[in-house]
Amino acid sequence: MSRVLRDRYVVVGHPVEHSRSPAIHARFAELTGEAIHYGRLLAEPGRFVETLQGFAASSAEGLGPARGCNITVPFKFEVPALAARLSPRARLAQAANTLRFEPAEAGGWLADNTDGAGLVRDLMHNAGIDLRGRRLLLVGAGGAAAGAMGPLIDAGLEQLALCNRSIDKAAALVERHAPLAAQRGVELAACALDAAPGGFDIVVNATAASLAGAGVPIAGRVLRAGGVALDMMYGAPARPFLQWAREHGATPRDGLGMLVEQAAEAFLVWRGLRPPTAEVLREQRHALDAQAPVR
Ligand code: ATR
Repeated sequence: MSRVLRDRYVVVGHPVEHSRSPAIHARFAELTGEAIHYGRLLAEPGRFVETLQGFAASSAEGLGPARGCNITVPFKFEVPALAARLSPRARLAQAANTLRFEPAEAGGWLADNTDGAGLVRDLMHNAGIDLRGRRLLLVGAGGAAAGAMGPLIDAGLEQLALCNRSIDKAAALVERHAPLAAQRGVELAACALDAAPGGFDIVVNATAASLAGAGVPIAGRVLRAGGVALDMMYGAPARPFLQWAREHGATPRDGLGMLVEQAAEAFLVWRGLRPPTAEVLREQRHALDAQAPVR
């Protein structure tokens, strides 16, 4: 009887040793019966392209060919230039977190960005928030915010406001997304951090401020009482924002659900089926709590 050789995937980044993606994809493989092997690959700054190409061309004893990868900090902006094809959401974000390796005769490498879809799915399915008709404030204008904007607009918000320390970066992102927003009837605006209007239903933190130890970069009045405040990070870096949310009467939510959902979306891009996520999110939450009991 011939054994099925597992197709290989990795997450490429710097650093990459703390990534939860291998554990998440291993569970997706078990739950779906898909024969995949998922590992980590450290790329030194300046050596991303050759590291990635080396992986794509590599073979591994007892395993199948390399079929694709996830890309994490700080390389997401380098991915579109390497791909033969971009999904519409990766084109809008000008950044990608997922590659599917295909031979040239099948169209070549496909780059996609599953971060925003993961965020929207976490808010709608895991947190049970209907985004239609809601006002959402997205804080930050880096890669994380760029990936989120297209899917947030597609989700049917009434208003999407983007505020950032550097207003020019927020304005550029808004300009790029303006045609999609007009098409979907979503009001879109850029503002400075200290000029954000108040009373948003949902506030999403996509900045690296807490990683930099700078605390929460926005005033509490942006939240309406009873709203939701989500930090795209999880664990210790998310704590200041989640505490800020509680202090201002909002429901705090960290980025663990988004992480699991963006992984499920990548799995769908690679394998053609969406793995179930509820159990995997519960397990990841358990593992995170065991590691850092105070959230
Ligand atoms: P990522 O790919 O994770 O989004 P990034 O592209 O470096 O990372 O973007 C980081 C974001 O966090 C940016 O929006 C940045 O603001 P600037 O565009 O003004 O640089 C924001 N950020 C980082 N440190 C911050 C701080 N101390 N206060 C407010 N915003 C901060």
